[in-house]
Amino acid sequence: MLEQNIEGIDFFLDLQPKLENFKDAVIQGLGHDIKYVPPKFFYDTKGSELFDKICATKEYYVTRTEIALITSIGSDLQPLIGSNSSIIEYGCGSSLKIRALLSILKSPSEYFAIDISKLYLIKTVREIAKDYPSLRVGGICADFSDKIVLDQSKGPSSINRLGFFPGSTIGNQTPDLAKILLERMSATLGSNGQLLIGVDTKKDTDLLNQAYNDKLGYTAQFNLNLLTRIKRELQADLDITNFQHKAFYNENEGKIEMHLDSKEVQNITIDDMVFSFKKGESIHTESSYKYTEGEFSNLLNQSGFSLVKSWSDPEELFRIYLAKVK
Ligand code: AVI
Repeated sequence: MLEQNIEGIDFFLDLQPKLENFKDAVIQGLGHDIKYVPPKFFYDTKGSELFDKICATKEYYVTRTEIALITSIGSDLQPLIGSNSSIIEYGCGSSLKIRALLSILKSPSEYFAIDISKLYLIKTVREIAKDYPSLRVGGICADFSDKIVLDQSKGPSSINRLGFFPGSTIGNQTPDLAKILLERMSATLGSNGQLLIGVDTKKDTDLLNQAYNDKLGYTAQFNLNLLTRIKRELQADLDITNFQHKAFYNENEGKIEMHLDSKEVQNITIDDMVFSFKKGESIHTESSYKYTEGEFSNLLNQSGFSLVKSWSDPEELFRIYLAKVK
């Protein structure tokens, strides 16, 4: 565990997260009966750029709905969160969201972001520190799904911790893993801690299907970029044009599934390992679970939190929950 001095910010802790090896994960996933690659590998530089483009598409309502919702619930949220909160953001994605939150809170005193990518984390927290000079700002380099203990004297204050987990990123975990992650968050946030979390709702199947099949094709490119990575970084022998993006809402399980579908019988070869595909066989690349208000409140309840209040936009496209540690 390493506390470091980083210019431009007040605190930096490197918990030295174990970076899962891309090659090991791909070989393990492609060798499985039902082939899969974990969605965290979408986000190389190109994948992150494509994700930003997805967020700006007409069909992907998630990002703009959440940002507008944060702004619109400001007067409700302020008294519930109070002043001098110590915000801990899980993952530092779009800084638009934390900026929206900072603009509605009553004099928050600290902001800490947790992210696995050290360079990206430093860049993001430095920008926040520059733009909010009265805020104490820090970065914690860690895998936020691990157990994170923050008891350093110079780290986030242990009173009034507010976890912030926007974007429905929780939906990319199975409900069982989401429960473990929430339990870990409740332990990190401690007594008096609260969590503000954004979660996508169950809704009309067509709307969901469109959100993951945008007309400009950014979601398809985002999905297929995983094969570009496998080809380039693992020197795999594979023909990307023989795969296609497939995303659909699985109503029984309440989740969007993304796959890379093999258009014909073919192989992917990595070193001397051959992974063969039947026509129509796919690599499962992502699940994105959607929750009703009742389902997510129950999950919070089973994971060490009690619901304070939740808000949704008028069309019930997205919901934000404020929960406190039990
Ligand atoms: C990051 N995550 C919440 C997105 C989602 O909606 O599950 C990732 C994404 N995949 C395709 N479009 C967006």
